[in-house]
Amino acid sequence: MFHDFQYPAILAASNRAAWQLDDVIGPGAALDFSKPFMPENLARTGALDMLSESEKLTLNHVRAHEYLSIFGLVEEFILPFVMDHVRADLPNADDVRVRALMQFAAEEAKHIQLFKRFRDLFAKGFGVGCEVIGPPHAVSKIVLAHQPLSVALFVLMIEWMSQSHYVDSVRGTSELDPLFANLLRCHWIEEAQHAKLDTLMVEALAEGMTTGELKAAVDGFLEIVAFFDIGCQQQAKFNAQALERAALRKLPAKQRAALIEQQHQALKWTYLGSGLRHKQFRTTLGALSPAELARIDAISPQFC
Ligand SMILES: [Fe+2]
Ligand SMILES: [Fe+2]
Repeated sequence: MFHDFQYPAILAASNRAAWQLDDVIGPGAALDFSKPFMPENLARTGALDMLSESEKLTLNHVRAHEYLSIFGLVEEFILPFVMDHVRADLPNADDVRVRALMQFAAEEAKHIQLFKRFRDLFAKGFGVGCEVIGPPHAVSKIVLAHQPLSVALFVLMIEWMSQSHYVDSVRGTSELDPLFANLLRCHWIEEAQHAKLDTLMVEALAEGMTTGELKAAVDGFLEIVAFFDIGCQQQAKFNAQALERAALRKLPAKQRAALIEQQHQALKWTYLGSGLRHKQFRTTLGALSPAELARIDAISPQFC
């Protein structure tokens, strides 16, 4: 066993960590558009020489709006997925396990609301519309059509990814807008329990599976990854359009194509690579099957 995750300790940690929406984004909350919202490690706007400094900052803000939207999007399928998982075990499930998983689902419902509140506040201050991929129910339908272990692996990747976003790129920095940095901190605090619960879900779903069954589950996981990669490319195009609207200029075609290509990679890193490369995600997968981990490790550099 490579971890000591236990339902009672996770439930207790969840109770201690819980925050209210108004603590994070209350009625008087304001975003400071003179500062970046997203860490440069994820936004990767600094290297875009075709943009002025103020345009780089604007694109950073567009990336933040995208982050709110894409996390809202993924949480819309995580919520029913977790509820189905716990429902399948009733009425004979362990009480503490049921409470821990119900709390996981309730926290994701709260996060969906949190991200919407931030998007509304963003829209008031940003001034021009930012288009996003979706709609969430259509994405949910495609993701949840895969077998449970494929989905659980994808959710596990997302949970650990949210941990690395805060710990590796936000904690200890002072240049970001404080309200947005605190959103990432609060999300990190509750997602820490989700990552552990999802590890336990993956292990439960994988129990007794043959090598061939595990391979099929990872095939399904990779289909979801490929689906999101297409989404990242479309979102990079939407972001370029939002930037042009906000900057009141059209980029020359070659510069525009280069920006979209570079930003597609930045989105791949944000939503896929930073999870695929996460030590804990790799450890869980490697414990199920070293061969399947080797497959993931072989493809992950293209998402970094
Ligand atoms: Fe969340
Ligand atoms: Fe989560």
